[in-house]
Amino acid sequence: MPSAPSAITFDATLGLAVLRTPNSVYALRIGADGSPRHVHWGPVLDPRGLPHPHSPADSSFEDEAAADELGVQSGARFGPAGLQVRFPDGTSGAQWRFLGHRVDGGELRLRLADRGYPLTAELCYRVHPDSDVIERWTELTHTAAPGDDFGPITVHRLDSASWTAPPLPDARLSHLVGGWSSEFQLHRDRLPVAETVLTSRRGLTGHHASPWLALDDGTATEERGDVWSTALAWSGSWRITVHRDPVGRTTWTGGFGHEGLSWSLRPGETLRTPVFAGLHTPDGFGGASRAWHHHVRTRVLPEPDRDRPVLYNSWEATGFDVDQEGQCRLAGLAAGLGAELFVLDDGWFGARTGDHAGLGDWTPRPEAFPDGLRPLADHVHGLGMAFGLWVEPEMVNADSDLYRAHPDWVLHSPTRDATELRHQLVLDLSRPEVEDAVRTTLDRLVGENAVDWLKWDANRPFTEAGRAGHPDPDRVWIDHTRAVHRIMDRLRADHPGLRIEACAGGGGRVDLAVLARTDQAWTSDNTDPVDRIAIQHGFGQLLPAQSMAAWVTDSPNGLTGRATPLRFRFHVAMAGALGLGGDLTRWRPEELAEAARLVAEYKRIRPLVQHGLQHRLTGPDGLTAVHYAAADDSEHAVLVWRPTTRFGHRPAPLRLPALHAAARYRDPETGRVYDGALLRHCGLDPDLPPGDYASRLIRLHRAG
Ligand code: DGJ
Repeated sequence: MPSAPSAITFDATLGLAVLRTPNSVYALRIGADGSPRHVHWGPVLDPRGLPHPHSPADSSFEDEAAADELGVQSGARFGPAGLQVRFPDGTSGAQWRFLGHRVDGGELRLRLADRGYPLTAELCYRVHPDSDVIERWTELTHTAAPGDDFGPITVHRLDSASWTAPPLPDARLSHLVGGWSSEFQLHRDRLPVAETVLTSRRGLTGHHASPWLALDDGTATEERGDVWSTALAWSGSWRITVHRDPVGRTTWTGGFGHEGLSWSLRPGETLRTPVFAGLHTPDGFGGASRAWHHHVRTRVLPEPDRDRPVLYNSWEATGFDVDQEGQCRLAGLAAGLGAELFVLDDGWFGARTGDHAGLGDWTPRPEAFPDGLRPLADHVHGLGMAFGLWVEPEMVNADSDLYRAHPDWVLHSPTRDATELRHQLVLDLSRPEVEDAVRTTLDRLVGENAVDWLKWDANRPFTEAGRAGHPDPDRVWIDHTRAVHRIMDRLRADHPGLRIEACAGGGGRVDLAVLARTDQAWTSDNTDPVDRIAIQHGFGQLLPAQSMAAWVTDSPNGLTGRATPLRFRFHVAMAGALGLGGDLTRWRPEELAEAARLVAEYKRIRPLVQHGLQHRLTGPDGLTAVHYAAADDSEHAVLVWRPTTRFGHRPAPLRLPALHAAARYRDPETGRVYDGALLRHCGLDPDLPPGDYASRLIRLHRAG
């Protein structure tokens, strides 16, 4: 329970800044050398009692110095630096003078100036009244006037923030890794005494790693234990370096861009980093996730209170083989099952009959849609569903009219072979004319075709990025991503009803920045429900279920070949924003009837799944269960999945620690009434049917 609203104080005598959130305190102190040093991040306490942090000059070989709030490459600092700069005369690093601070409501800014060069940095912090999440970012300014005779400053690294955990006897790192079709696999590894780098060098957030982590001392559980967790709001390349030093201290620094890039900061220019947010909780990994979900719902997602629609998407049913008649038929079947949104996927435009041609030519393929898309959109609307359209606006096939007209618009180097992946190239959105062309194309598509929903895909990473002859060639790594964000923001502003689904070959671009301008993310191209249990388990560490698109597709699964019952597929997909993605023309009448019943069941629990509090009870291996609780305790839903049964053992009862011990709960299906204390401490029998792929949805209503 929050004990106090958030507040920021700055004690000028001590040089001590204290950020108080409802359940935590974050404190830093300005060192005698002008550098802000970390003091405390964790449980509520009075940081004035803590010793003055050491500076690097206090001892020659002992690593006693307190960590900098933003590690600078300068002086006797030998850890990973979050700020690395080189001035035109060849001098590197910054030596700070503390200029002052500003507190403005929930925002703190520490202003630092280099002692010898025209460079300032503002370290920025933001707290919110009802949340333990602290948002941090950095603004670096070249303070020479544009006409002055001082050249650009080269920025080799500019991180958003450095974070420090208190000394722990041991340290464990939770992070997400994977690949295409295996995104968001949660790894929980003992942190070595070393530097551990989490990164994407792909120009996209990446399937392979996510810019989120959690740190604990190796003993935290889902419900208990100190956890420090951070997440970077950036949708391009990024890097987070975690440093566990031999004296037991763990710090990490992170921001946009990967190693080896540099940016040129011109006189008068300010470079603002993305937000790197962090929280501390004593309530274990589950507590950390619920705090993140609250943050995402209150400060990230554009319309968190709107129910995510049950969608139908044609991709797994038809692939590129789309036409008006076939899509109308699928739309009719989907509407009959209770779908609320019909999304026409890839293949509707240009010469796009496969992945080799047409990308970039965003006009309907005449053989498939002779009268354009409007008849299909009208048909879908007539069935009472919203109309969604797949686009991949940042990409182009070499075999396309767009590329033939503008070969210079793609990321390329005139002296290198262009790397084609999935036969496509990346448009360089850092060029204003390309950004403008993409934005106007999307604006036209949405306006002309009554599009309610865009599925925005991106099916390859960057290669040959950086423009030959450009004075700041690596800027593309930042500017492309910013252009994507800008286009999404502008589209939403110009079309207030429009919803956007983030996608990048499955879950290749899922982060807090993309979710600030989209409604949900396509989680993975792997729709096998057994694999999805682990993928969804990882996704939910940071992000709430309403942002996690989950489809029920055909059996056997097109990717894995695994056959699973319809009910199991539904129960797994009900843990997110439910969608349907199978070839409904091949579903038997009894399957369609069961699907309609399960869609209706999902709609009953949708408020709990999409807006409730999520408690992971077990998983993701073996029997897995997730509990969704209404904030007012009135209703509960528990989804239980058991892919395989072993030795014929009965599963252990599921303890439900989120219930109130003094309350009673009624199962509306059986009418049975349970004692809250009993369900909390002894658990509920999941009562699964025998055999593999067993699953159940259990609902409970508060009965007094
Ligand atoms: C990758 C996406 O993840 C799929 O859902 C589908 O839209 C294909 N691209 C289409 O090319």
